[in-house]
Amino acid sequence: MTMPLMTTTLLPPTKPITVAADYAALCDLVAARIAALVREKPGAVLGLATGSTPLGVYDRLVSAAQDDGLDFSGVTCFNLDEYFPMASESPHSYHHFMQKNLFRRIRCRRWFVPDGAPRSEAEVAQSCWEYEAAIREVGGIDLQLLGIGRSGHIGFNEPGSPPDSRTRLVTLHAMTLADAAGSFGGLENVPSQAVSMGIGTILEAREILLMASGTGKAQIVRAAWTEEPTLALPASWVRTHSNARLYLDTAAAQDLDAAAQAFS
Ligand code: PGA
Repeated sequence: MTMPLMTTTLLPPTKPITVAADYAALCDLVAARIAALVREKPGAVLGLATGSTPLGVYDRLVSAAQDDGLDFSGVTCFNLDEYFPMASESPHSYHHFMQKNLFRRIRCRRWFVPDGAPRSEAEVAQSCWEYEAAIREVGGIDLQLLGIGRSGHIGFNEPGSPPDSRTRLVTLHAMTLADAAGSFGGLENVPSQAVSMGIGTILEAREILLMASGTGKAQIVRAAWTEEPTLALPASWVRTHSNARLYLDTAAAQDLDAAAQAFS
């Protein structure tokens, strides 16, 4: 008698996962990895993210710089994205967010955020090309920190973004607009476009840390880390990277089964 072949709907996880007890412990771990890289390579190139998730990491890096002498003077940072149109001096800009929450406090001298200044599409395309060239000129990104949106985006690469996409003007997903409505004082004030590093740009980083916190991210994290990479879920392409790690708190990890979590 032949036995039926066993099938499973959940693909085995292929990338490491670290699950921390809570948000504070998660930030400790992620900040420790970034600090270790900066100590080991004082001229490191960091790719950084905005949003609420990395804020605790930035607080810890500021403490490491101010209290423990962690030296960011030789570090270069490239941020993932910026709203469009958006003046850099606007309190809503990611330029302002990064300056306030990190760069001014760690005395980092070389940091870049994609330029969201209002201008023609051709001028935006030129500045996107220059952003890519600036990353290449410093030898590429050593470590890229990522959050994940409820739409599955990384940076502002929304569903449908190709895995070989580069820095470009993009249109934001309805869920992303809804999530930003609070900080803009209403949905009608949220820019519907942004300039975002591409998935191809992100995947060229030598190391990727994808970070998520809270139950609101549990479902999208499970899909991104256990299903086949697909255009419909931009974060799923991170699994194709040879040096990527998922960093979660227990709330964001709640939908990953024990088999997935055991691979850490
Ligand atoms: P959040 O955003 O950290 O504010 O949840 C993450 C993201 O959109 O990448």
